[in-house]
Amino acid sequence: MLILTKFIGHGATRICFEHPQDVNKCVKIATSPKNTKLLLKEIETYFSIQSYLSEYILKYENKLIDTNQGKGLVCELLRDEDGSYSKSLDYWLFRNKIDEELISQLWHFSYCLIEHDIFFYDFNLKNFIIQQRNGHKFLYYTDLKSFETYKSWTFLKLEKIIPPLARFLMIKRLRKLFKTLKIQPLMVQKNTH
Ligand SMILES: Nc1ncnc2c1ncn2[C@@H]1O[C@H](COP(=O)(O)OP(=O)(O)OP(=O)(O)O)[C@@H](O)[C@H]1O
Ligand SMILES: [Mg+2]
Repeated sequence: MLILTKFIGHGATRICFEHPQDVNKCVKIATSPKNTKLLLKEIETYFSIQSYLSEYILKYENKLIDTNQGKGLVCELLRDEDGSYSKSLDYWLFRNKIDEELISQLWHFSYCLIEHDIFFYDFNLKNFIIQQRNGHKFLYYTDLKSFETYKSWTFLKLEKIIPPLARFLMIKRLRKLFKTLKIQPLMVQKNTH
């Protein structure tokens, strides 16, 4: 059993720790037992989409492990070249450092989702982490829990069976993200034939 001591960050449903046996991995623990199934969903999602989005997502281990804090999900830990934990997008926005390099990756990430009909809905700034290495910035989307899960009763889950609706809702969320970052809105017209 792993003993977790090095706290990295806290979200609404998970706590992230450094892996005690590998400084380049982290272990994510659900904040309540009912959230453990979200860890399993994340692993499953990773294996279903990784070939389309590999440059923007972390590598995950294929099963949960036992820790002193309960079941844990193991994935890559992002560090900058100075060894510090990489920071999320809100840190960069707050410092007015959303530059062309990041913008082009955000655009490309969005186009990959749209092009392959990969539907995520949670584009919270903390779900994106920017790694600095070799003098460049690399964007990662680190939270796969919202895959095909639009949290609203409005559309009665019709988005699960109507891809154009799912696409519309995802693009709306992406536009909101772009607006928050004060970057050009997303112009998309997916060619569906
Ligand atoms: N792979 C990683 N490398 C570096 N830091 C990370 C990594 N994963 C998570 N963190 C940090 O830990 C915090 C919490 O992790 P995470 O986003 O997985 O929790 P969460 O419960 O899913 O969040 P929420 O549900 O609120 O979106 C993040 O905001 C980030 O600062
Ligand atoms: Mg998150």
